[in-house]
Amino acid sequence: MNIKILKAGYIYQDGEYLCDSAIAFDKKIIKIDSLENLKELYPQATVEILSDLTVIYPGFINTHTHLEFSANKTTLEYGSFVPWLYSVIKSRDELINSCDDLVMSSAINDMLRSGITSFGAISSYGSDLQSCIEAPQRVVFFNELIGSDPKMVDVLYNDFLERLNQSSNYADSLITPAIAIHSPYSVHPIVAQKAINLAKHKKLTLSTHFMESMAEKEWLDTNEGDFKEFFSKFLSQNSAVTSKEDFLNLFDNYSTHLVHATQIDNDDIKKIAENNHTIAHCPRSNRFLGTTNLPLKSIIDNKIKFTTATDGLSSNYSLNIFEELKSALMIHSDISVELLADELIKSVTKNANEVLNLNSGELKEGYNADIITLTLPDIPSTLKHISLWSILHTKEVDSVFIAGKKVL
Ligand code: BEZ
Ligand code: FE2
Repeated sequence: MNIKILKAGYIYQDGEYLCDSAIAFDKKIIKIDSLENLKELYPQATVEILSDLTVIYPGFINTHTHLEFSANKTTLEYGSFVPWLYSVIKSRDELINSCDDLVMSSAINDMLRSGITSFGAISSYGSDLQSCIEAPQRVVFFNELIGSDPKMVDVLYNDFLERLNQSSNYADSLITPAIAIHSPYSVHPIVAQKAINLAKHKKLTLSTHFMESMAEKEWLDTNEGDFKEFFSKFLSQNSAVTSKEDFLNLFDNYSTHLVHATQIDNDDIKKIAENNHTIAHCPRSNRFLGTTNLPLKSIIDNKIKFTTATDGLSSNYSLNIFEELKSALMIHSDISVELLADELIKSVTKNANEVLNLNSGELKEGYNADIITLTLPDIPSTLKHISLWSILHTKEVDSVFIAGKKVL
């Protein structure tokens, strides 16, 4: 592949914005240096000079979405978790059946236009596999295990294994198979343990929804609350299959991506930090499903890595990551806006790469050349606010490179 050199006003590296620099890459990032030096080192390279107002970022990484629910617009009920879950159960077949490849590729394209060059797709049925194979992005394909009814778990586990095997047949593509345990309330701990052992054995990335709603916390802690009627009606269960603590213990010593975590307390935070678990922050989904805010300040203070992610269109109105970042910026008023903006950019680049393990998300020698560019509306008066202004003034990015190839 021919070497390409991009020069712009700013390059984001290691949480800083470099001025007067350019980046040379083929499939991988080769070097960041002055344009003169790069031209001298790589005289055959194609050089593109972008505007002085343009910022070059590593491609953004959305660690958590559900493409199979992309057909939802005005079907599912927003406002509160358990009524939403009832509406999912009522309309699931209709939503899944109307979610064809065109609907999913449109969702994938929306992510791309907002600068997402890699994403984690939670797959409940495997019906999104083909769309993910054809996506221009890198995809971590999380085969999801669900099922709390002991009579059903073996069948469901075998179905999960089959999907996992299917998704493991594409070594030449940008797909990486992974495992998702649906949640503490919906997966029997015996099969959850089996899937976790498998993830450890195969060294697969592992994720689970965790402490998403007040109803979940109440059900796991006291076997009461909004979930009581739900479990009695659909699953003839009058108590939870596990406790919050026992569930979290299953993941000890295996860094796991915990999705939502809005209802975690200080003990959970301590345990999450000790085990190097990470958290996916999905502020719009949380708002639409009626949960309280993630304790982000405490998460940052305890050095827990978090990502900002869109969740699926089953609990959102778009998969645009800038919309998600703007929402996150608005709700955490206990964190200074400048620091929060920097943390948010880190959350969709370096942190998200550490979760999905893709060798992307940073503009450093040897990393994949997954690169995006966006242009600020005017000259920034200080470097300190470039994260903030990038988030506030961007709806879609100017260009996207994946493995060095221009895809937008
Ligand atoms: C279950 O299969 O046990 C289940 C699925 C969704 C929500 C709750 C439980
Ligand atoms: Fe989710």
